[in-house]
Amino acid sequence: MTEPQLDLQPDGTWQPIRVLFVCLGNICRSPLAEAVFRHLVDQRGWTDRFDIDSAGTSGWHRGAPPDARSTETARRRGITLAGRSRKVVASDLRTFDYVIAMDAENRAALDELRGRSGGTAQLRQLREFEPDADSLDVPDPYYGGPRGFDDVHDIVERGCAGLLAHIAAERGLR
Ligand code: 4NP
Repeated sequence: MTEPQLDLQPDGTWQPIRVLFVCLGNICRSPLAEAVFRHLVDQRGWTDRFDIDSAGTSGWHRGAPPDARSTETARRRGITLAGRSRKVVASDLRTFDYVIAMDAENRAALDELRGRSGGTAQLRQLREFEPDADSLDVPDPYYGGPRGFDDVHDIVERGCAGLLAHIAAERGLR
């Protein structure tokens, strides 16, 4: 017996699985998570099955490209960061299936937004999907040195791999 294909629509097209990564500024951690997750999705051949984006809870860097340190660390590992910073909006919690916070502070801000405006997205922290994580927070590298960006990249890679395995199991992707 074949399992149901949850995202297959009556017209035979796939309803994309929508994933939003959220940090404070949307210039360091969440653009990286977006790009790393997209890379994993592409490697699996699932590009057309996903819609992937990132946003920040603060809006402080609205319109800015990803932080140069985050971009350079990713570039050395073959990952290209893209996009411009935007602030998370209430409708994100309705239109995305998975909203993935980088740390507990982002998560609390998203919980508060959902408390006021509603929404059905699964709200989780990235490191919930990292086996044996020593903390649930992806550390904020903004005020640290370049070494912090390498650590963040390692953490984000592990979390994104675990998240994709979780979504694939939940949505019957293979
Ligand atoms: P992000 O990092 O939340 O990973 O994008 C930060 C970016 C900017 C600031 C803090 C964290 N800031 O204070 O401007």
